Amino acid sequence: MTNTPPRAHPHSLAARERRRGDARAMGIDEAFIATMVDHFYTAVRADAVLGPIFEPRIDDWPRHLGQMNRFWQSILLSAGNFSGNPMVKHLAIPGLDEADFQRWLMLFYATLDDIAPSPEAARHIGAKARMIAESLLTGIWVHRDHDQALSRKVELPHV
Ligand code: HEM
Repeated sequence: MTNTPPRAHPHSLAARERRRGDARAMGIDEAFIATMVDHFYTAVRADAVLGPIFEPRIDDWPRHLGQMNRFWQSILLSAGNFSGNPMVKHLAIPGLDEADFQRWLMLFYATLDDIAPSPEAARHIGAKARMIAESLLTGIWVHRDHDQALSRKVELPHV
C-alpha cells in the first residue's frame, strides 16, 4: 500500500481545468458561490412552502450551507470536494413533488437575477440547477411508481 492518491486521466484533468477557467471568466468563483448559497437559503427559509420543509430537517444551518457550498463548487468549478447523496436525501422527503421543484427553481432564478455576475453566468448556473432538479424529480417519480413515471413529462421552468 502506498499513500499515492488516485491519478485522474490527463484528459479529464484538462477538461476540468477548462471548465474552471470558463466559470471564472464568467465571474463564478468560491466567493460568488458563498454569496449565492447565503442569499438563496435566506429566501428558502422565508418561503411559505419551502421553509417548513427545510426547517424540521436541518438542525445545523452552517453545516448545511457548507455542504451546499461544496456541492456548487463541485458542479460549477469541478472542485471534487462534495460528498453526499442528494438523491437518497430527497427521496426521504415525503410528498416532495413537481410544484416544490418549480418553486425551488423560481426562487433560485430570482437569486441569480439579483446577484449573478453576468446574464451569461445566470443562464449557466440556472441551467445546471434545472438539470439537477429534473433528475431528482424523475428519480422521485421512478421510486414512487416506476410505470407511471415513464409516461409523465417533467415540467419545470427554464432560467
Ligand atoms: C423541491 C425542492 C427541494 C427541497 C424541499 C429540498 C430540501 C432539502 C433538504 C431538507 C435537504 C437536507 C436533507 C438532509 O440532510 O437530510 C436537502 C439537501 C440537499 N439538497 Fe435539496 N431540496 C430541494 C431541491 C434541490 C435541488 C433542485 C437541488 C440541486 C440543484 C438540491 C440540492 C441539495 C443537496 C446537494 C443537498 C445535500 C445532500 C447531501 O448532503 O447528500 N436540492 N435538500
